[in-house]
Amino acid sequence: MAPSDLHDLFMHNLEDIYYAENELLDALDELESQTENEEIASAFSEHREETQGHIDRLEEAFDVLGKEPEREECEGIEGLIEEHEEFADEDPTQDVLDVHNLIAAQKTEHYEIAAYGTLAMLADRLGEDEVGDLLHENLEEEKDALDELSSLAEEFDYGQIAAD
Ligand SMILES: [Fe+2]
Ligand SMILES: [Fe+2]
Repeated sequence: MAPSDLHDLFMHNLEDIYYAENELLDALDELESQTENEEIASAFSEHREETQGHIDRLEEAFDVLGKEPEREECEGIEGLIEEHEEFADEDPTQDVLDVHNLIAAQKTEHYEIAAYGTLAMLADRLGEDEVGDLLHENLEEEKDALDELSSLAEEFDYGQIAAD
């Protein structure tokens, strides 16, 4: 049946971010194993744990809505992952790869923040307060994660990979 109301639109976006979070679980694992800078690698590992928490909250949201969790392929996150892989496959030096991984993670946080911001707003409009609270919790953790990654990007010692 063709989507016809705000609830359909909300469910579409919920299934999209549920797919994205599951992909990110693997992606963060891979980023961590590719990264030598310890601070950056541990930020990935920490956020991977939080990502499992995001998935748990989403499953709780589906439950509150009386729906089975379903995944709708998220081409946005697939595109970001693919974009990351293309450059990583060009065999960059380790320091360049570490920064590339950091940038890729920041991009996914921006995507997630946009997704959760919209979802939380739609949940509020639909009067789904309990679901809205869960989405707001995920949103706040994504914002904190982006702040942490941005600080690492600011503080990185670029001297070692300055252009020659
Ligand atoms: Fe997340
Ligand atoms: Fe995230």
